Amino acid sequence: MSGWSVPTPAAPAAAPVVPPTLQVEGLSVRFGGHLAVSDVSLAVRPGRISGLIGPTGAGKTTTFNAICGVTTPTSGRVLLEGDDISRLGTHQRARRGIGRTFQRLEVFSSLSVADNVRVGQEIRAGWSRRRRPAPQFLAAGAGADPEGIGPADEVDLIVDRLGLAPVADVPVGSLPTGQARKVELGRALAARPRVLLLDEPASGLDDLESEDLGRLLGDLATAGLGVLLVEHDVALVMRVCADLSVLNFGQLIASGTPEEVQSNRAVLDAYLGGGGDEASAAAAAVAAGVEVGPGDPGALR
Ligand SMILES: Nc1ncnc2c1ncn2[C@@H]1O[C@H](COP(=O)(O)OP(=O)(O)O)[C@@H](O)[C@H]1O
Ligand SMILES: [Mg+2]
Repeated sequence: MSGWSVPTPAAPAAAPVVPPTLQVEGLSVRFGGHLAVSDVSLAVRPGRISGLIGPTGAGKTTTFNAICGVTTPTSGRVLLEGDDISRLGTHQRARRGIGRTFQRLEVFSSLSVADNVRVGQEIRAGWSRRRRPAPQFLAAGAGADPEGIGPADEVDLIVDRLGLAPVADVPVGSLPTGQARKVELGRALAARPRVLLLDEPASGLDDLESEDLGRLLGDLATAGLGVLLVEHDVALVMRVCADLSVLNFGQLIASGTPEEVQSNRAVLDAYLGGGGDEASAAAAAVAAGVEVGPGDPGALR
């Protein structure tokens, strides 16, 4: 011992780490002999939109189903704000704050737009132990104190915020897909989710509607909501997602920022190597910023 003490250089200030709202740890789902999801881990943080992408059949919807409790995983855990919810039923997870929309639009066609949103509220009715504040994005829109928004006002605010006020009393079955998808989103928001899982919300939307959806998702994230987005609209994914997880044949093959992922060779191969359809190949090409002629996906190799 020399007696000299060498001062330890001060560690650089670390960026504050926001704890994840949703954590999926080592999730696997097997259907008979088919491993649809294999050891997938991901996290969704408040105020961020995380993308879950991959070719058709990669296991995205199955991952959502396992997070919601619709499908029982073979192994792995789902944690919501640090609590293991893996053993809870679907309705219990919904009440705890897992909100979701479906790849195959699920709405009550004969009910009005406003009533569909009201149904979402019922999930939390009578469940006061874990009251959640009204979503900030509604309060901001109304210039109101979130605590002061009553249930009826909240339905009106959600309907209004989604641009559905002119059709509030119209049965959802008579609306075009773009509006019906917003109704489904409104129903999910009415349950005041802590994390929102969206399964191809831009499917059936035109370009303008898709841009509109992107802005809305951005507003939700800015208001603090964590979003996990499954989407084939690559332009939308690239615009709104802070990070991406990429699945192929049930396995997580890449994760990182959109920029990191779009130049990842394994990702491009996954989309173009026969696992995806032509639309997916074209989408991957767009993501990579490479022009691919029709019937010529090999141009990227
Ligand atoms: N209920 C099920 N029973 C058997 N196989 C299923 C079931 N659901 C999905 N699969 C299979 O699991 C794989 C992943 O499907 P899915 O999660 O729907 O993919 P993605 O949403 O990425 O397109 C596919 O091979 C699909 O055929
Ligand atoms: Mg799917």
